Amino acid sequence: MGLLLKVLIPLLGLGLAVYFYSGPGNFSEEEPCTGVRYRLCAALSSASPPEMLRGKRVIVTGASSGIGEQMAYHLARMGAHVLLTARTEAKLQKVVEKCLDLGAASARYVSGSMESTAFAEEVVKEAENIWGGLDMLILNHIGRSYFNFFNGDVDHVRKLMETNFLSYLAMTTSALPMLKESEGNIVVVSSISGKVASPFVAPYSATKFALEGFFSSLRHEFIIEKVNVSITLCILGYINTENAVRAVSHIIKKAPAPKEECAMEIIRSGALRQRELHYPASTVTPTLLLRDLAPEFLDGLVRNNMRVENIKRPPPARGSGH
Ligand SMILES: NC(=O)c1ccc[n+]([C@@H]2O[C@H](COP(=O)([O-])OP(=O)(O)OC[C@H]3O[C@@H](n4cnc5c(N)ncnc54)[C@H](OP(=O)(O)O)[C@@H]3O)[C@@H](O)[C@H]2O)c1
Ligand SMILES: *[C@@H]1O[C@H](CO)[C@@H](O)[C@H](O)[C@H]1NC(C)=O
Ligand SMILES: *[C@@H]1O[C@H](CO)[C@@H](O)[C@H](O)[C@H]1NC(C)=O
Repeated sequence: MGLLLKVLIPLLGLGLAVYFYSGPGNFSEEEPCTGVRYRLCAALSSASPPEMLRGKRVIVTGASSGIGEQMAYHLARMGAHVLLTARTEAKLQKVVEKCLDLGAASARYVSGSMESTAFAEEVVKEAENIWGGLDMLILNHIGRSYFNFFNGDVDHVRKLMETNFLSYLAMTTSALPMLKESEGNIVVVSSISGKVASPFVAPYSATKFALEGFFSSLRHEFIIEKVNVSITLCILGYINTENAVRAVSHIIKKAPAPKEECAMEIIRSGALRQRELHYPASTVTPTLLLRDLAPEFLDGLVRNNMRVENIKRPPPARGSGH
């Protein structure tokens, strides 16, 4: 019976995942709610997400590259106002220019590092100054880490917590008055590593698990206090951004999913006020089902999907104070 359940329930999950997510990959303004995949969209809203975003004021963090950059372009095509942020000014300038070409209602950037919560608050202040309000806050940036055995560097974990976790809280806190007024959306970009641990990402995984705990608790409080601001947690699998592919393509056996579609799914799930996004659903959803049903079996699968022999051991940890 137990074994039967262990097999049947993941299969059922897979079936459901396919039911909801298989369908045309298109998400055009002309055909907003076509196909099986848009069942949810059609059921939940008469307006399609692209139309829902027109004229909305959106902050995207980590927008100079990868998924954040692609989200900026989608939002621009949808006619949103975007405020982009990351550290590298030269890249942000280019992304802003392209957003304007693509039809953004307006596009601006603020450059700086999210290692400081003061900067995180400054970005929100900027939105308040230019727009006097905010509709969607997309928290997406991550600080640089390493893909290897934990090297014992506790300072690195502390810094990564500041960048990947505390800055998300700081931005949420300072944006909340504006988001309450607009009945807006908070979109938190997390990872399968924030739900199921895999080796070689201990510091990163810790920051992503922290996001789930914090934002899921906050979601309860919003409901209790009748704060109509949605919180969408995005659980992403392996995506083909330059940085991710460079870091892990020699270790991870499976092929990455496309960043353009990923970016669109994130915006859609936020606009539709969904609780969680699983992308790509075909791997994320079954993994999450197995997590509680057969954790050791899943751990084995996780390690099996890696070419562990390609990991080079790091030099011994440096002492603290560097
Ligand atoms: N790609 C994947 O396989 C994958 C899988 C699961 C989850 N995710 C999640 O998806 C999100 C985006 O990932 P991605 O692959 O698109 O990453 P990415 O291409 O490396 O982009 C990271 C962004 O964050 C910015 N950033 C880095 N350090 C920063 C700092 N200290 N302060 C402010 N901004 C900083 C980067 O710009 P600057 O360097 O200019 O600051 C860049 O714009 C992340 O939350 C990640 O955890 C990705
Ligand atoms: C998807 O887009 C492609 C090219 O953009 C088009 O040929 C195809 O008909 C579209 N499919 C649907 C279902 O809209
Ligand atoms: C919450 O806000 C959304 C978007 O404005 C709206 O559609 C929905 O009806 C609101 N829900 C409640 C309970 O007020």
